[in-house]
Amino acid sequence: MIDLLLGLQWGDEGKGKIVDVLTSEYDIVARFQGGPNAGHTLEFDQKKHVLHTIPSGIFHDNSINIVGNGVVIDPVIFKAELDKLIPHDHSIITKLKISRKAHLILPTHSLLDKASELQKGKSKIGSTLKGIGPTYMDKTGRNGLRIGDLEFDTWKDKFHTLSQKHLELISNYQVDIDFDIEKLNATFFESVEFMRRIEFIDSENYLHRAINQNKKILAEGAQGSLLDIDFGTYPFVTSSNTTAAGACTGLGIAPNQIKNVIGIFKAYTTRVGSGPFPSELFDEDGETLARVGNEFGATTGRPRRCGWLDLVALKYAIRINGVTELNMMKADVLSGFEKLKVCTHYNYKGEAIEHLPFDIDDKYVQPIYKEIKGWSQDITAISDPSEFPEELNEYIAFIEQELNTPINIVSVGPDRTQTIFRNALS
Ligand code: GDP
Ligand code: IMO
Ligand code: MG
Repeated sequence: MIDLLLGLQWGDEGKGKIVDVLTSEYDIVARFQGGPNAGHTLEFDQKKHVLHTIPSGIFHDNSINIVGNGVVIDPVIFKAELDKLIPHDHSIITKLKISRKAHLILPTHSLLDKASELQKGKSKIGSTLKGIGPTYMDKTGRNGLRIGDLEFDTWKDKFHTLSQKHLELISNYQVDIDFDIEKLNATFFESVEFMRRIEFIDSENYLHRAINQNKKILAEGAQGSLLDIDFGTYPFVTSSNTTAAGACTGLGIAPNQIKNVIGIFKAYTTRVGSGPFPSELFDEDGETLARVGNEFGATTGRPRRCGWLDLVALKYAIRINGVTELNMMKADVLSGFEKLKVCTHYNYKGEAIEHLPFDIDDKYVQPIYKEIKGWSQDITAISDPSEFPEELNEYIAFIEQELNTPINIVSVGPDRTQTIFRNALS
C-alpha cells in the first residue's frame, strides 16, 4: 500500500517535517522527483537537519529510504549530505538505496543553469542554480547519464562526451561565468566513488516486491504543485512533475496502488524565486509573516515572498492531485494577527472566478478576500486540538468547508513534537 505526500503550494510547506513525523507508520519512504533544489527541514532533540536529496524518513531505524528513478542526483551535494549524517548514524548507509534509473547532475549542468539564468536577466526563473532544468532536459532529450551507467567501464567516456557538449553550449551564451572544469570534475569523480557505498537498486522491482509483501510505503514529494512543469505557473516552475502523477513515473508504481494522498499546505502562502503570486503581500503583514515564520529558503537562504492563504490555488492543487486529506502547517505563525485574510476568488477581467486561468499574473488576476477573526494566543505548546483557540477552530472549519477535504494534522511549530493530530491516521 502506498500513501503519497506532497506540497500543494509553491514548495517549503513543511513536507520534510511531516514525512519525519509519519515515517514510524511506514516501512519505506521514497522520493520520486526533484533533486537538490529541495530543502526539507526536520527538527527533533534540539537539532535541525536539512535534507536535499535524501528522503526525510532517514532518521528512523526501521525504514528503508529510496531515492527513486524520477530524482536527479548531484553526487557532490549527496556526499556533503551524507558526510553530515553519517557521524550521527552509521546505519544510514544500509537504510538508503538509490535507483539505477535516476539521472546524474553533472557539474556542467549547474553551469548551464547559471548561464541560462544570467542570459535571461530580469526574466530569470529564480532557479536554485542546482542544474535541475538542464539535467531534466538531457533526460527527455535522451542524452542523460544515469546511476546505473556508473556500473559500466564506459561511464567516464559518456560523462566526457556529455560534459564537452555542455561546455560548447555554455560558450554560446553571452555571459561571463568563472569555473575551473578540471577541479569541478575531480570533486565530482571523488563524490561518485563515495556514493558507491550506497546500494544501487532496480527500485521499481524493489517496490513491487515490497507491495506484494504488504509493506507500507510513503512517497515523498519535493517542491509544490504550483511548481509542476505542466500545471504550475509556467515558465516559473521547476522541471519535474511535482503532482501525484509524478509519483507513478518517478517510482514505477501504478495509480491504483496509491491509497491516501496527503496534501500539505502552510496556513498562509510563500514563494521563493520569480513568478506570479496573486495573494502576495508587500505590507507590514507580509513582513510579519516572513519574520515570525522565519521565511528563508532552506537551500539557497533567499528570503521567501509571503502572502495570505489562497484557496483558489489550493482547490486546483487538490483536484490535480486527488488529495484525500490535508495537513495545515505553521498555524503558530498566524498568532497575533487581529484579522486574517483568505483569498476565496480571483477577479479575472471583472468576473469573480474560482479556477486558475492560463496566466495568474497580477496584470490579469486580483485576489478577492474573506476576512476572518484572528487569535492572540501562543499555540506552540498546545498538545491537543481541544486546546485550540476558538478562532483557530473557525479558521480550520472555514478552510475544510471550502476545500471539502479534512485537515487531519495541524502543525504548531518546527519540532517533531509540535504536531497535532485532529483525526486518527487512516
Ligand atoms: P519543505 O521543503 O516542504 O520540507 O519545507 P522547508 O523545510 O523548506 O520549510 C519549512 C520551514 O518551516 C522549515 O524551517 C521548518 O522547520 C519550519 N516549520 C515546519 N512546520 C512548522 C510549523 O508548524 N511552525 C513553524 N513555526 N515552523 C515550521
Ligand atoms: P522544496 O522541496 C521552494 C523554485 C525555485 C525557482 C523554481 C525553479 O524544499 O519545497 P529549479 O532550481 O527547480 O530550477 O528552480 O522553483 N524551487 C523551490 N521553491 N521549495 C523548493 O523545494 C523548490 N525547488 C525549486 O526557487 O523559483
Ligand atoms: Mg524546502
